[in-house]
Amino acid sequence: MESETLIVQGGIPLRGRIRTKGSKNASLPIMAAALLSAEKIILQGVPDLLDVQTMIAVLESLGAAVRFRPREETIEITPGSALSCEPPPALVQQMRASFLVLGPLLARCGKVRLSLPGGCAIGSRPVNLHLKGLSAMGANLEVRGGCIEGETGGLRGARIYLDYPSVGATENIMAAATLARGTTILENAALEPEIVDLANFLNSMGAKISGAGTTTIRIDGVEALGATKHTVIPDRIEAGTLMLSGVISGGDIIVENIVPDYLKPLLAKLREVGAVVEEIEPTAIRVASSGTLKAVDLKTLPYPGFPTDLQPQFMTLLALAEGTSIVTETVFENRFRHVEGLSRLGAQIKVEGHHAIIQGTRMLTGAPVCASDLRAGAALLLAALAAEGVTEISGIVHLRRGYSRLEERLSRLGARIEIGRQVSDRALGLGS
Ligand code: EPZ
Repeated sequence: MESETLIVQGGIPLRGRIRTKGSKNASLPIMAAALLSAEKIILQGVPDLLDVQTMIAVLESLGAAVRFRPREETIEITPGSALSCEPPPALVQQMRASFLVLGPLLARCGKVRLSLPGGCAIGSRPVNLHLKGLSAMGANLEVRGGCIEGETGGLRGARIYLDYPSVGATENIMAAATLARGTTILENAALEPEIVDLANFLNSMGAKISGAGTTTIRIDGVEALGATKHTVIPDRIEAGTLMLSGVISGGDIIVENIVPDYLKPLLAKLREVGAVVEEIEPTAIRVASSGTLKAVDLKTLPYPGFPTDLQPQFMTLLALAEGTSIVTETVFENRFRHVEGLSRLGAQIKVEGHHAIIQGTRMLTGAPVCASDLRAGAALLLAALAAEGVTEISGIVHLRRGYSRLEERLSRLGARIEIGRQVSDRALGLGS
């Protein structure tokens, strides 16, 4: 069995302009929420990602008609009126975000049978807050045979307090509440830009949502939602990853199609480590290496704090900073899987529970490494761009889930990245 690898020649400063794609973490909840309408939904600016393809498969398995034109980054979704309420478990287990169809299906069909999303590389990923909110709205939800079995005689508005500002729980509850009878008040809601984009999308279909982007969201239920055309926001995590590629490679790049407001924590930290950060246009930022990097401490927090999805990538930069940095991961319980690969490249990192202590080194050197999850894969790619010599990264299917043709786009900035073929030991007749 062959699987693709990336073979990266490091030490080449990146130069030029690169455009951020649409947000994966806005596209996925919006695609799931399209199920709330029977009419045609047109989405633009949707990135061509494995996770988008998986969500399309989930929607089609429920009976929606979907047409994706990847080059135009446009998706047309027509859910229709005869939706199934039970996506295939195998599909749902492929991608956690499939769980975001729970709220829309309860609101549209009044019943659902949905496999519990497995945990993943970065943590156990419970869904108790999703279930608590939907139960408060009148859904009877039970866990049976690894699935959530739910039904409702009709959702009704409720006052819900989230113990933790969960992004997914906010999205599932907000979507379901659009068709509930009465008003829902969601408190301690997540503040991420992707929540605001979802609310704007739902309002364009006829929903009545106010307060998205603040800790208290009010949703006044309506009878039905209609057709719409919506462009998803740019991907702030991809934008941050691209910026870090310019700095860590010792280069000088301009990242376009961004919303600087969404990137404040990253821009502040880049300036703190000593990178050049220049907002040259309203939606474009120039970043460059200044030649030296200073160690800084970093703590991930829910938005507007430093995003956990950029923690692995920023840690990679700190591996080359002068001095000792401490990175604290407060959002997920196991999001230091990238440390193993970075250490193989020569990084000096010690993990103590939720903290990682990084002793900066002058140089990383290329070696074979394996990506364990999406953002760990991005961190290893950044490290490979900076390392002396050649690095081969396996497990790049994780990268394909969240970054569209990244190696091709970075190559246009001067990166030397080829696609390799990792032939398994068995195919070579090695090992047991
Ligand atoms: C979304 O995941 C993102 N995924 C994640 O991005 C991101 O890391 C995360 O938000 C935090 O910003 C998508 O948008 C598709 P959470 P989600 O619910 O919704 C706990 C990537 O790389 N929690 O805010 O699953 C949970 O265990 C991915 O693109 C509960 O305890 O995140 C975690 O510790 C990775 N109970 C914390 O909250 C619940 O019911 C944050 O989870 C739900 C969550």
